[in-house]
Amino acid sequence: MSTAEKSIIADLSLAPEGRLKIDWVQAHMPVLNTIREQFEKEQPFKGLKVTIALHLEAKTAYLAKVVKAGGAEVTITGSNPLSTQDDVCAALVEDGITVFAKYNPSPKEFKELNIKALEWKPDLIIDDGGDLATILHSEHPEFGENLRGGAEETTTGIIRLKAMEKDGSLRYPMVAVNDAYCKHLFDNRYGTGQSVWDGINRTTNLVVAGKTVVVVGYGWCGKGVAMRAKGLGANVIVTEIDAIKAVEAYMDGFAVMPMIEAAKAGEFFVTVTGNRDVIRGEHYAVMKNGAIISNAGHFDVEANKLELAALSDSVRTVRRNIEEYKLKDGRSIYLLAEGRLVNLAAGDGHPAEIMDMTFALQAVALKYVNEHYQQIGHKVVNVPYELDERVARLKLESLGFGIDKLTDEQIAYLDSWKEAE
Ligand SMILES: NC(=O)c1ccc[n+]([C@@H]2O[C@H](COP(=O)([O-])OP(=O)(O)OC[C@H]3O[C@@H](n4cnc5c(N)ncnc54)[C@H](O)[C@@H]3O)[C@@H](O)[C@H]2O)c1
Repeated sequence: MSTAEKSIIADLSLAPEGRLKIDWVQAHMPVLNTIREQFEKEQPFKGLKVTIALHLEAKTAYLAKVVKAGGAEVTITGSNPLSTQDDVCAALVEDGITVFAKYNPSPKEFKELNIKALEWKPDLIIDDGGDLATILHSEHPEFGENLRGGAEETTTGIIRLKAMEKDGSLRYPMVAVNDAYCKHLFDNRYGTGQSVWDGINRTTNLVVAGKTVVVVGYGWCGKGVAMRAKGLGANVIVTEIDAIKAVEAYMDGFAVMPMIEAAKAGEFFVTVTGNRDVIRGEHYAVMKNGAIISNAGHFDVEANKLELAALSDSVRTVRRNIEEYKLKDGRSIYLLAEGRLVNLAAGDGHPAEIMDMTFALQAVALKYVNEHYQQIGHKVVNVPYELDERVARLKLESLGFGIDKLTDEQIAYLDSWKEAE
């Protein structure tokens, strides 16, 4: 069967548009280009089946092609119902990758597409948010019988995998790509920071300068979202549950207060905690008329949609990716992209240069877990520092500048406690 016959996508005729998108990002992903060249020579995945679940847009498509260039047969599925781009899926199918993904499937169909991508019993997986892991550990353990291990993209997935490791249920090794320096320092902070505002701006087409933006959660992503909100001229309020992060936000120049107070002041809200119900009924009750809520955390549970609906008389789509909840007291609250990751569901995700490093890490992490899965055992492990550093060095090379090297005297000085005088 051809990949077109095996795949489930929206429309194969969209391939030319998708190909242009992939060509554009490839031209801006020099680190991944270098890794692709190495994979073409070394064939680290020769004869292996790889299933990938990621936000299925052009940068992800290029990662899938790099893994294929390393000798793998690749099947790919989406990691969010609204972030799949149908034209990109079509181009991938033409490139010999089996795709099970469509834009905006029903929740049931979305799950079925994820399951389909696992049915062929992969040797390796790349997961985002732990959806594949959940299927392989609960509903369909039989699809994991050949599995050597895999790599997990994001904070939320790693939290879920560590919970599995802790209660002894994790069945294969997973590399925590999110925890690598070249991932969270750049992707979560600069990638999310920029692309969240791109998503909000292109969706609302409203001014940010002078307005009050509430950033809920001051982790790696929240720092980026707050930094870029400030750059756009907003007054930024941060809410946190962690005292250290709250002090950090204060020292970075932001107002810090509990959500119940911030809820009264905010005009834009961005949740980015990886937690649930961080905006809920009591907060909607005091929000200004016209407040705009968006989420950048992995799941659409950060703003409680059921409680918002319960307070409302009606809901209508007022613009693509904007739903107006008309509250019983007459106020309107707007929710972007159904509360799903606004940068991916209402935008194109992170810039290609950022995903260049993230997906370079995914590629080397996959090779690493394939080479070491027996030694690692059923654990969540970090990307080894040498691989993380190698990605940074390739990035520097692509930028065309170098850094200093330690002299022998400096190495001796840093290694010795006697040379302190
Ligand atoms: N949109 C994207 O493209 C993108 C990119 C990377 C990560 N993510 C996702 O974003 C989320 C956050 O990731 P991160 O790397 O910043 O995580 P993080 O752990 O660095 O930060 C999360 C922060 O939220 C805070 N928090 C938790 N509950 C809270 C609450 N009730 N109120 C206020 N603050 C609260 C935590 O104290 C922490 O500081 C995760 O779901 C992750 O998977 C999204």
